[in-house]
Amino acid sequence: MTDSTTGEGLILNGLTKILGGRVIIDNLHLAVKKGEMVSLLGPSGCGKTTTLRMIAGFLIPDSGNITLNGNDVTLLGPEKRPSAMVFQNYALWPHMTVFKNVAYPLKVRKLSKEEIVRRVHEALEVVNLMHHKDSRPGQISGGEQQRVALARALVQEPDILLLDEPLSNLDAKLRVKVREDIRNLQRRLGITTVIVTHDQDEALSISDRIAVMNSGRIEQFSTPQELYDRPETEYVANFIGSLNRIEGDYQGGKVIPGTGVIGIRPEDVLFTQEQTTGSYPATVTLVVPRGHFSEVYIKRDDVELRAFISVDVPKIGDQGFARVAKALIYQDSKLVRVD
Ligand SMILES: Nc1ncnc2c1ncn2[C@@H]1O[C@H](COP(=O)(O)OP(=O)(O)O)[C@@H](O)[C@H]1O
Ligand SMILES: [Mg+2]
Repeated sequence: MTDSTTGEGLILNGLTKILGGRVIIDNLHLAVKKGEMVSLLGPSGCGKTTTLRMIAGFLIPDSGNITLNGNDVTLLGPEKRPSAMVFQNYALWPHMTVFKNVAYPLKVRKLSKEEIVRRVHEALEVVNLMHHKDSRPGQISGGEQQRVALARALVQEPDILLLDEPLSNLDAKLRVKVREDIRNLQRRLGITTVIVTHDQDEALSISDRIAVMNSGRIEQFSTPQELYDRPETEYVANFIGSLNRIEGDYQGGKVIPGTGVIGIRPEDVLFTQEQTTGSYPATVTLVVPRGHFSEVYIKRDDVELRAFISVDVPKIGDQGFARVAKALIYQDSKLVRVD
């Protein structure tokens, strides 16, 4: 647990960073528990890398502080912190072998040759790359290069692992495999990890908790399920998953023209042949197959809704009844009610 009594884990306390005369990080608070995997999720330019660089020690905040396992590390340089970072472009040295790339941080720390060999071999085993120890980065695949970068971080036996969009240079299929590898490794080693991503699928699939960022601030910090079920702001609701966004008020399953905003997840729009409580006459206006489900546009007299339907998919022109199973009600962009 991260709390003031044990001081374990990572605590970012009111971090602010000004770059180029602009406030890039704005009074940011975050507490990561020991052994936890947390994502910083947000669109490009929202300040994810800047935050990670402050945690790693490559940037010093203008105000606020950072504690790691109870120690204030705010002003320590990267080599003095028990953290290791994997950069977006891996930053491997092309002229060095895989072994030498991984050994580098230990050489800098002037460990004995035997210790270096032992730890590098261990790290290469962990990422399954022993057979490539004498290859150069240019001779191995992107996924393997990514694992070299990971081994170079793990070899330092850090208290906290920092990953900046580690999968963005991989193709879609490999990305899913490597993210599972990273997650399994993280669980097995029990290493506290902060991973930066702009990809909601990636964040939802590998994180214990996700910090959704918007313009240098954290909008919500919750488990994947909680973020999906109870997005506290319209921004989070739009960023995580899909949403029907309707202006109006919502009563008894009906949309009433008004001032608020109603958010309805497409899988919460139900279409049936029989009328049930809270369902209203509706017509199917469009069906778009999406593989394991279909996107179905349904016109109810009050509004047109997009539904995700995977069994008994209706056809264009079908008439029936549509019911909204769950609606998120926002006022001034803040969640006020779930109906
Ligand atoms: N050294 C810098 N000088 C000025 N602006 C910067 C600097 N570094 C980053 N920024 C700006 O800070 C904002 C956040 O950048 P960054 O943390 O890299 O975002 P993200 O990683 O979320 O895409 C961007 O608008 C970027 O242009
Ligand atoms: Mg970035």
